[in-house]
Amino acid sequence: MKRVKMLESLGIDSLMVTENGLLLAGKGFRSIVLVGTSEGRLVAIKMRRSDSPVESMEFEAKMLKIANNVNVGPRIFSYTKDFIIMEYIHGSDISSWVSSLDVESSEKLRKVLRSCFEDCYKLDRIGLDHGELSDASKHVIINEELKPVIIDFSNASITRRVSNVTSFFSYIMYGKIASSIRQILGIKTQDVDLVKKYKQHISDENFNNLMRSLGL
Ligand SMILES: Nc1ncnc2c1ncn2[C@@H]1O[C@H](COP(=O)(O)OP(=O)(O)O)[C@@H](O)[C@H]1O
Ligand SMILES: [Mg+2]
Repeated sequence: MKRVKMLESLGIDSLMVTENGLLLAGKGFRSIVLVGTSEGRLVAIKMRRSDSPVESMEFEAKMLKIANNVNVGPRIFSYTKDFIIMEYIHGSDISSWVSSLDVESSEKLRKVLRSCFEDCYKLDRIGLDHGELSDASKHVIINEELKPVIIDFSNASITRRVSNVTSFFSYIMYGKIASSIRQILGIKTQDVDLVKKYKQHISDENFNNLMRSLGL
């Protein structure tokens, strides 16, 4: 009951339900994400689990705000120790999305991957490391307009060395959707020197060279 009052005070007008109960956008080991409405728009309500290893979501909210400054991540609307209220991203996770593509969809895939890399690059430039992009399957949602959105800043850091671009690169080259991606894009071998160069010196030039080598 206390939580319902808290949600009201955070501007939540209603919670979405299904015949089985509250509508879940997803579940992690730190949180449960519900779907609700606030001022007529759909919002995601990330709720700290009582058995969560973290004591407060305030740090995560701050990391998401920093990402929002460069237009990355779902828009955050409000937060407390136990909740983050943010834009609800309607779409599918990147691995399911890629699995649904056929070889004729290479243009679509290029556009989406390019946009993911650009978001990763923006985060690299501001020194915010997401921390979980080497398994992007759970952390990139492709929305209905084919815009990828990076979610879950609970493991983000502004002190760790950034590796957003390089982690996402590893994901698409060696992760679980790597073979589909290589097939659709027609990539046979990949020059890892360009990744090394980018890692040593994060710059427009090194980023663009890496993108060019991927045909993005
Ligand atoms: N803004 C959002 N819009 C839509 N779905 C979301 C949003 N945030 C999280 N989710 C869903 O909830 C799941 C768990 O959220 P996540 O932030 O990864 O929690 P945790 O920190 O517990 O891992 C995600 O995998 C995703 O399916
Ligand atoms: Mg997560």
